[in-house]
Amino acid sequence: MDRTAQLTFRPATREVVYDPGPAPDSPHLRAARVLEGNWTGTSTVPSRGLYPHQWSWDSGFIAIGLRHLSPLRAQTELETLLAAQWGDGRIPHIVFNPSVPLDAYFPSPDFWRSSTAGRAAGAPRTVQTSGIVQPPVHALAAWLVHCADPGLSRARGFLAGVYPRLAAWHRYLLHRRDLGGGGLASVVHPWEQGMDNSPCWDAPLARVTPAPARSFRRADLAHGAPEDRPTDLDYGRYVRLATDYRDRGYADGGSAFAVEDPAFNALLIASEHSLARIARELGATGTARQARAERLTGVLIDRLWDPAEGMFFCRDIRNGRDIRNGQDTRSSQDARSGDLIPERSVSGLVPLLLPTLPRAVVAALVRTLAGPHFGAGTRLVPSYDLLGEAFDPHRYWRGPAWFNTSWLLERGLRVHGETERAGALREAMLDTADTSGFAEYVDPYTGAACGATGFSWTAALTLDLLEAKAADATNGAKGGDLG
Ligand code: SER
Repeated sequence: MDRTAQLTFRPATREVVYDPGPAPDSPHLRAARVLEGNWTGTSTVPSRGLYPHQWSWDSGFIAIGLRHLSPLRAQTELETLLAAQWGDGRIPHIVFNPSVPLDAYFPSPDFWRSSTAGRAAGAPRTVQTSGIVQPPVHALAAWLVHCADPGLSRARGFLAGVYPRLAAWHRYLLHRRDLGGGGLASVVHPWEQGMDNSPCWDAPLARVTPAPARSFRRADLAHGAPEDRPTDLDYGRYVRLATDYRDRGYADGGSAFAVEDPAFNALLIASEHSLARIARELGATGTARQARAERLTGVLIDRLWDPAEGMFFCRDIRNGRDIRNGQDTRSSQDARSGDLIPERSVSGLVPLLLPTLPRAVVAALVRTLAGPHFGAGTRLVPSYDLLGEAFDPHRYWRGPAWFNTSWLLERGLRVHGETERAGALREAMLDTADTSGFAEYVDPYTGAACGATGFSWTAALTLDLLEAKAADATNGAKGGDLG
């Protein structure tokens, strides 16, 4: 069946509305059905059971796919998230839906207490949010959403509305979160980087005393198999870090956990490139932003690149440092120290996304991606080193393949002209996403579904890849909307 038979265009709102109609029989329709089912009216939940609120980086990836179904909904998705931005510029990692019961997700709004504990940091009064952040994919998403329907975007003043908020978000990360003093942003909680239980955090987390198991009740295990999810010990440490941050009024600088992560910073830089484009669209030159993105690419290489290993690594900036009563007792010169964490994560490949990476770095990343640590015998790119001691093909971010990281790598390969490799990765993603029921993550070898199914960003990024594939077939285009 032709997919257009299932989509109705409403000229008054320029919105394309999905009509579920008869049983879907194409990947496009199946993906669209997931997004339709997870739409709440103002945003999209990552999955109905496991994640019943709005998540920050999920919404970025969701908007990138949703723009092909409804540019208006894609704009609304980002606008809803940005409406919950704090006065200090942070975009919270969760925006809570007040109609969802408190026990449906942990940690719930009564744990974060954003409107009281976050008052000094400018948390909104009317909407409840978490107090930590997630990777800054938003300006990249905003630009791509604009490109899907520039007429609608201009008519609604979409970019003019989001630009100041996105600029404040980047300012927050580049100033308040430059905890290492070298120019990159640090994450202060594993949930901020998004790859919650990555083996990269094992060493820095080992210094954190876990909150007692009886002091909180996990809600995630009601929806996911325990062997696919982080352990209770991990959760105890997540809770301790979040509690301490909250009790410091969400003030930055005193966290026992602070890591410079390659994917988080690469997304910030990619988004800075997008902000330059947005600035140009709004009539400015964008030159300063463009220059900053290029300079930050150099900083990323200086601080996180390991030429011998051919990939980027996380920097643990608290290693050997003494945090007492929330105060860092070392001088700012010492703050520049810290060690690279010797664990290979897919995060260390994501900077491939950056357009001004030196050729030698690109070549090494492409080799590593195809080599024994990430490429041997897999269908999709694993989240962690296939040869690493901690590798587990099913446990959340300790080995399974995720669709957002593969999407970023596919894009990176295309940015650098690796069209054939990108095409092969795209085909593998399209096949695995559909056959896994748009799983949250999959076994990297077999493609078997793990975590939730009907996962929004898997469906959204599938739609994006399907659109790009169709455009390539029509135009012979190689780069799609990479420009
Ligand atoms: N990813 C985390 C969770 O599993 C927090 O955002 O709940």
